[in-house]
Order: sequence, then structure tokens, then C-alpha cells
Amino acid sequence: MDAEALRGVREEETQPRAREKREPTVQPAPRRLPARDWNELLTLRTIAVANHKSGVGKTATVHALGAALAERGRRVLLVDLDPQATLTAFCGVESAAGMSMAEVFGGALPGVVPLWDTLREIVPGLYLFLAPSDLALAAAELGLISRMGREDVLRKILSTVADDFDVAILDCPSSLGPLSVNALTAAQAVLVPTQPHIPDLRALWFFLATLEQIKHELNRNIETLGILVTQYDWRLPHHRAAVDAMHAARLPVLQVGLGQPASSAGGGTGSLSDQPPTHLATNREAQAELADMVERWLDFEKPLGSA
Ligand SMILES: Nc1ncnc2c1ncn2[C@@H]1O[C@H](COP(=O)(O)OP(=O)(O)O)[C@@H](O)[C@H]1O
Ligand SMILES: [Mg+2]
Repeated sequence: MDAEALRGVREEETQPRAREKREPTVQPAPRRLPARDWNELLTLRTIAVANHKSGVGKTATVHALGAALAERGRRVLLVDLDPQATLTAFCGVESAAGMSMAEVFGGALPGVVPLWDTLREIVPGLYLFLAPSDLALAAAELGLISRMGREDVLRKILSTVADDFDVAILDCPSSLGPLSVNALTAAQAVLVPTQPHIPDLRALWFFLATLEQIKHELNRNIETLGILVTQYDWRLPHHRAAVDAMHAARLPVLQVGLGQPASSAGGGTGSLSDQPPTHLATNREAQAELADMVERWLDFEKPLGSA
């Protein structure tokens, strides 16, 4: 092969291959170096959705709120911190093994995968991304116990994408272990879903007491956005009694999802009717109310670290 022909071959090899034509989808901004000071989370606001009781609607709330905020043009990151990976499955990610929050956290030693590399686009065209979880996160959580600075690991991890998102919503596991403590240490606000059951109020008290402790010891900036009553059915007297008890105890109960259909307002007899309950997960109006409230907080709150 003569020199001319050889040059032709080399040029062909080094030319970038023509990119496949794809419909443009929203991608995060180009990768940047991690924020210099992890304590300064720049524009990112972080909300933990937490309650150590399971089945109260944490995951459903994270998903519904994240989608509503992204539809309104916010750059949203959902973080699945539950080794059961319910949110991950809910977002349609079948397996994140090897590239999940487990590898980002690490265990006794720091993780080996940057958060950015694990992110999955959830809805093409919406700036809505998921940091997925995997069962391996359970082992990572055990390892965290012997890690230096173990409560601050997540805050540092989030700082690496602080410029790329407006809000991170953390789906906490149903426990008060190191992952939940990390979430409540990294967050500036916490939303506490609960079911309207009198026996659950004791667990709620316990959670709020733990939150006070975290505020005192680890994160004085965290504020409670409120207690979000999920799966409320205004037609059931025991649901109404539980909400009344929360109000009587002066708990910061949000009104979201506690409405009564207009046609039945004023009746309030509690008799079952054809009117549907106002579940947050399925009720667009309640979702919009919650997103309105969170947007007010996003627009009002000063960045962490500012005067
Ligand atoms: N606001 C709600 N209205 C109706 N059903 C809900 C609501 N929130 C959650 N659910 C349902 O309750 C179950 C448990 O919710 P989930 O979000 O997984 O709870 P958690 O994350 O607290 O364990 C799921 O089947 C979910 O679809
Ligand atoms: Mg969950």
C-alpha cells in the first residue's frame, strides 16, 4: 500500500463516526468539576421525604412531586436511597447493579462511581433524572457505620451536581439508619408523609423527636415543610379523627390532599358516597397544591451558607 493510500485509511479510522440522528432530549449540562466547597450547595435545594414507617407514601410522593416540578420547568434530581429500590422500579429502571447509589456511597471506604455517571433520564424532554438504588445499598449502609464523617457523605456527593439541578428530592428508606440520617443531614427541608391512622401518630411523634435531634446535632438548617397526610379519605371517620388529633397536637399538618369534594362540603356526615377520596398519588389537584407549596419554598429559601 503506498503512502497516499495509507494516509487515506488512517484518516478514515480517526474520523468520528457519524452520530445517529436522534430527537433532541434534555440532557444535564456538561460535566463540571465538583463544587469546590461541598458545604456550599450553590443553587441546589434538597428535600428529604422521610418517615421511618413504611407504606406511608414516601416513594409515591417523591415521584409525583418530582414530575410536577419538572413539568413546571425545574431541573429535578430524584435520589433513591432505599435499598428496596421501589422508586427505581417505579421509574422504569429494571436494574442499576454496579452503577447505583451503592457504588456512589461506597461503604467503609468512599465510593468509586461519581453520582453523575449513574443518572438516568426518566422522561425524555423533561429535566427529570434519577439516581437509582440497588439492593447493594444495604451492604453499603452497613459499611457506612465505620466510615469517617459518615453523616456527611451524601451532602458531599450532592455537591458534585449542585450546579446541574434546582432541586434534589431524596426518597428515604423506612428506617432511621445511616442512609436516612445522611438524607436529613444533607437536606434543607423535610416532608413527612403519614397515613391518617391514630396508631401511627406515636411513630410520627418518635420521628419528629429524632428530627429535632438531627437538627440539634447535625443540621441546624433543616426545616420541616410539613406533615403530608397521604391516602386520606374524608368519608372515613377514623381518618378525620386522626387528622383532628394531629391538629390538636399542633403538628404542622399540610392542607394538601385534605380537601373535600365541593359537592359534599358542608354535609360532612362521614357517610360513604360516590365521591372519590382525594389521594395525592392519583389526584392532580392535590399534586399541584403540593408543587405550589414547594415552589414557594424554592423561590423563597436562601442558598445554604448565605448570610
Ligand atoms: N397518596 C396516596 N394515595 C393513594 N395511594 C398511595 C398514596 N401514597 C402511596 N400510595 C400507595 O401506597 C403504597 C405504599 O406507598 P409508598 O410510596 O411505596 O410508601 P413508602 O415509600 O412510604 O414505603 C403504594 O402501593 C402506593 O401506590
Ligand atoms: Mg418507599
